[in-house]
Amino acid sequence: MVYLTRKEHFNAAHQVVNKNWSDEKNKAVFGKCANKNWHGHNYDLYVTVKGIPNQETGFIMNVKELSSIIKERVLEKLDHKNLNLDVPELKDKFPTTENLSVEIWKLLEPHINECKLHCIRLWETENIYTEYFGE
Ligand code: NI
Repeated sequence: MVYLTRKEHFNAAHQVVNKNWSDEKNKAVFGKCANKNWHGHNYDLYVTVKGIPNQETGFIMNVKELSSIIKERVLEKLDHKNLNLDVPELKDKFPTTENLSVEIWKLLEPHINECKLHCIRLWETENIYTEYFGE
């Protein structure tokens, strides 16, 4: 089994609050992500697929095609968007990096046919990332 990773990048705005909590509690738990007037993150997205190299190409899948799928299915939906307002998949969910990585998996998984999706790794800052393996 060989693992292949494509890196992509997008920017998006969000606000993370629990509507049942006070402003103070939201600020205490979510910190700057609770800012009332939104804020942005520069997300680095690493999509890893796994498979056996094809006999005729040596590829698990064509990485250009993988990039096109990510752009079409994920970046079109998320890049330069407000995650709270513009993304139906995140409606009524906390737009955290955790939930975002799960939604990105759901957007991509049906379109990876030549091999299998293995991992969504999403960097929110240079110090924090999540990984989702589909379970
Ligand atoms: Ni944030």
